[in-house]
Amino acid sequence: MARISLNVDGASVSDDVEPRMLLVHYLREKLGKTGTVVGCDTSNCGACTVHLDGQSVKSCNMLAVQADGHEVTTIEGLADGEKLHPVQEAFRECHGLQCGYCTPGMIMQSIDLLNEHPHPTEEQVREGLEGNLCRCTGYHNIVRSVLHAAEGGASS
Ligand code: FES
Ligand code: FES
Repeated sequence: MARISLNVDGASVSDDVEPRMLLVHYLREKLGKTGTVVGCDTSNCGACTVHLDGQSVKSCNMLAVQADGHEVTTIEGLADGEKLHPVQEAFRECHGLQCGYCTPGMIMQSIDLLNEHPHPTEEQVREGLEGNLCRCTGYHNIVRSVLHAAEGGASS
């Protein structure tokens, strides 16, 4: 076992974990953060995307011990009480989801891409989301949602 201390969604946590435990399993199984999901076992789908110190990472692609001393934000840390994050609100307004399975990862990745490109072109949005798969193939409305968030169309 290895002792880790990190901040998750604004709360400090310390735990003993198996050195081989993936971050996504730590978040889901130890912390109950089931908003972060596992959609593949090949690091391809992006459903498990969270932020590590403000940058998106695939949490199935790193170990919990690698998050020691860092700040992790999951989809569950975005809203301010009842008030959705502007990107969550944009997805809601533009129907950027179908089954919703990919949505947490899409939103986490979209925030990261908007931090890098606050006024992205459609091509930049599509490129920024290329590591996130939607099995419903609902990409059109997902891209619209991100562009809508960039326009400030979603209430902030
Ligand atoms: S579950 Fe992490 S990329 Fe698919
Ligand atoms: S909305 Fe179904 S996988 Fe994306």
